[in-house]
Amino acid sequence: MSELQKKCSHILAVAGGKGGVGKSIFSVTLSTTLAMMGYRVIVVDLDLGGANLHTYLGVMDRMPSLFHFIHKKVKSLNDIVVKTPIANLSFISGAHYSPAMSNPAAELKVKLIRHLYALDADFIVIDLGAGMDLSTLDFFIFSDRGFLVTVPEPGAVMNAYRFIQGALFRKMVTVFGQHKEIGAIVRDLGQACAHDESAMLSWFVNRVKEIDPEVFPLVQEVSSRFQPFLVLNRIAHEQAQRLVSTLTGHCSNKYAVEIKYLGNLPDVKQLTSFLLDVPGFLKSTAGKAYFLSLKSVVRRFLIDLHDANVLAEKLNIRKDFGDEKTLETLSDIIDRLDGDIINDAGKKLWKLRLFFKPVEVVKFLLKKGVKEDILFESDSLNLKK
Ligand SMILES: Nc1ncnc2c1ncn2[C@@H]1O[C@H](COP(=O)(O)OP(=O)(O)OP(=O)(O)O)[C@@H](O)[C@H]1O
Ligand SMILES: [Mg+2]
Repeated sequence: MSELQKKCSHILAVAGGKGGVGKSIFSVTLSTTLAMMGYRVIVVDLDLGGANLHTYLGVMDRMPSLFHFIHKKVKSLNDIVVKTPIANLSFISGAHYSPAMSNPAAELKVKLIRHLYALDADFIVIDLGAGMDLSTLDFFIFSDRGFLVTVPEPGAVMNAYRFIQGALFRKMVTVFGQHKEIGAIVRDLGQACAHDESAMLSWFVNRVKEIDPEVFPLVQEVSSRFQPFLVLNRIAHEQAQRLVSTLTGHCSNKYAVEIKYLGNLPDVKQLTSFLLDVPGFLKSTAGKAYFLSLKSVVRRFLIDLHDANVLAEKLNIRKDFGDEKTLETLSDIIDRLDGDIINDAGKKLWKLRLFFKPVEVVKFLLKKGVKEDILFESDSLNLKK
């Protein structure tokens, strides 16, 4: 067997549970934005039963696709990577349907995942299908970070909860499946709690404590390491907040999963005129508000991902200090700095400096490893032209 070297450490999966909520559009706009920042990005259509990314990217469907990889017509995923009209953005198509694709066997799934990691890119964005069949859940949990996209409709939000629950338990099965007694329980979880799904985790935790208390901390570790991002689609900023606290609160209380909300994307009717060129939508006048919100989402994602040094390169640091609240927040950040990093006299000086050289203060904070939203301009991605 040829050795595959892991080359990409940022596989990002986009899922949502429900169909039609905007997963594919977001996969394309997220990938395009990262590519515009100079990252080398490959977007992969892993909606294996309903591939449509090629149309959104305006790429013809007569090209190599996952079909050729799955049916061993090519050896490596590299052979089916195609360029898109966007600099730095390549694409792996899921076009051409075959039954083996919509429901890949376990070995094929593992092979696909290994080959994805061996692709040479800064980011690989995988667009997943609707629903929560095992392959969708597996691609989500094997990625480095998952984005959950939903719209503000009860059905979609309910599916998003269920997706998180399904993914978490799938993760538990992968980790605990090998344990003699716990393996049997975790595989049977759905049936054990059929009448009250939300009690599943506490039931499972208690069973683990009884059976093998030494393993118990690992259950907590698996939950707490599972940190999907949440993006709300087709909703105005003002309406988003309540929905966010319900969703994140529920996932935290019931499943001990901390979801990180990245922001909202507005509903833009004119998007339908760009369905054969979604990247073009971002550059259009009609797409202006969407792109602005998307840049905030990407900025928050990058702040979570990178250390302060990389951020200083990739994001424009704040130059607008007109609002008093900004200075107050920066002053609070200085106060909270560890005493080992800076003593009280130093803190006082840097706080005073805020009133005549605020940009220097921001640079200082970045150097000290602080990575907060407020250090960057709100429309702050460093886009290459
Ligand atoms: N922010 C938005 N504003 C307006 N329309 C949107 C927005 N996001 C998505 N849409 C519309 O929703 C439709 C479905 O989007 P998309 O194909 O991304 O959904 P999906 O979740 O990938 O669907 P599927 O589950 O079928 O894969 C598209 O026709 C698109 O025009
Ligand atoms: Mg889709």
